[in-house]
Amino acid sequence: MARLKVAVLISGRGSNLQALIEACAAPDFPAEIALVISNRADAKGLDLAAKAGIPRAVIPHRDFATREAFEAAIDRALTAARVELVCLAGFMRLLTPEFVARWRDRLVNIHPSLLPSFRGLDTHARALAAGVRFAGCTVHFVRAEMDEGPIIVQAAVPVLPGDDAERLAERVLAAEHRAYPLALRLIAEGRVTVRDERVEIAGASAPPETVLNPQR
Ligand code: GRF
Repeated sequence: MARLKVAVLISGRGSNLQALIEACAAPDFPAEIALVISNRADAKGLDLAAKAGIPRAVIPHRDFATREAFEAAIDRALTAARVELVCLAGFMRLLTPEFVARWRDRLVNIHPSLLPSFRGLDTHARALAAGVRFAGCTVHFVRAEMDEGPIIVQAAVPVLPGDDAERLAERVLAAEHRAYPLALRLIAEGRVTVRDERVEIAGASAPPETVLNPQR
């Protein structure tokens, strides 16, 4: 079986990277991580990649005069590693519309909210302030607008009494670690199509019932 060659772009902790590494370790998983790129030399995620024996590239954005030059270096690394899909996982640089267009429908991101709610930063504090009963995460194809693009997988978690941003973030993060490997599997199995800017997934099954919060 030819596995889909994936690059994961990070800037920090790398817990989603770790979830993808663990998924790819299963012999029947249809994707492999060919390269991890970080724009920061001190990203903890680089150690996780090293432990897993995955090739790493540090491409510091500060070394480049322009965003375009920085992205050209990323692009060269991706091409050299024959990468077919790019997964952003806590990559904290905005990408130009040109880069996004070049990797259209081959570039995915995970965002810690149920998009299109709460784009941008501080999602958990904002979700709590809004009083929503469910929070969650979204894996989506990347478009030029930040945190926008066809949605592949979402995971919902309840907001619980007494939650603060940190506790909610922890619950959402656990869901992220399930959602991202699932999205990668669906893509690598060739089951994901973008049609009219919405995702269709061949043979997908949905959860059986409505979930209420509170339950009574
Ligand atoms: C995650 O919450 C992800 O949704 C967001 O950035 C965070 C990255 O965390 N885009 P990690 O580096 O994967 O641990």
